[in-house]
Amino acid sequence: MKKKAALPAMQVTGQVAIVTGSGRGLGKAIALALAEAGAHVVVTDLPGQLEDAQATADAVQEIGRQALAVPLDVTSLQSIQRMVQKARQRFSQIDILVNNAGINIRKMALEVTEPDWDQVLDVNLKGVFFCSQAVAREMVQRQAGKIINIASQYGVIGDEQRAAYCASKAGVVNLTRVLAIEWAPYHINVNAVGPTYVLTPLTEKLFADRKYRRETLRRIPLGRLGKPEDVAGAVVFLASPAADMITGHTLLVDGGWTAW
Ligand SMILES: NC(=O)c1ccc[n+]([C@@H]2O[C@H](COP(=O)([O-])OP(=O)(O)OC[C@H]3O[C@@H](n4cnc5c(N)ncnc54)[C@H](O)[C@@H]3O)[C@@H](O)[C@H]2O)c1
Repeated sequence: MKKKAALPAMQVTGQVAIVTGSGRGLGKAIALALAEAGAHVVVTDLPGQLEDAQATADAVQEIGRQALAVPLDVTSLQSIQRMVQKARQRFSQIDILVNNAGINIRKMALEVTEPDWDQVLDVNLKGVFFCSQAVAREMVQRQAGKIINIASQYGVIGDEQRAAYCASKAGVVNLTRVLAIEWAPYHINVNAVGPTYVLTPLTEKLFADRKYRRETLRRIPLGRLGKPEDVAGAVVFLASPAADMITGHTLLVDGGWTAW
């Protein structure tokens, strides 16, 4: 009988993942999908959202994995260090980091204030860099790890009312390449996922507007908004051994928006 080719597993059994901003929205879906794929999860969110983070952690435990809810503000280096310390006290090593926390302040470019700009760039870009640096210090020693940054289709295309957001996400796309190159010798893969619109607390107000929804759907060849599971599936793939040869890449989960 012919021997079957060994396919690398799309599982992360027994690995430990940190997911930033995982009290709700895409982060929550990613935390649960990683748990389904076998990972224990450090669920993090802003100190004021800790109840949400705990609810996600409880759901991870219901799947049969271990979970820890930890407060984290990705704009504070001190908060990042404290979170990583707590995660390592509990799990000793971190195998996967998902930089998911992100915000948007929609305004026309002429209306954007300095605090608006700083807030969006601090969460979406500075936070991704310093969380990656903090977790990679230990991954470098162990010579293994997967980092996945949640960028956006707006990291590769522009749109009105999103000067700071698009700049931050384009920054994430290129930061992903730099970290992939620098950390490849340590067998750390760094990739990004670029979703189109997904219905979450971040976007629900936008899509309450039926005209906006209709116009958005017209731009997505597959004809529907993304689902949190669409994004979570891409993250699990990139975290798994099936993606061991992929690094520096941004996987667009955009229903074809950028294919026009
Ligand atoms: N929903 C979409 O349509 C969409 C599309 C493309 C990309 N994204 C990206 O996906 C990620 C998640 O988006 P979402 O739609 O789930 O948003 P969301 O607002 O529902 O969730 C974001 C989470 O991040 C947390 N957060 C915010 N600031 C933080 C900080 N300073 N420190 C730690 N946590 C913080 C929030 O408390 C929240 O739990 C973001 O990076 C976003 O830019 C979303």
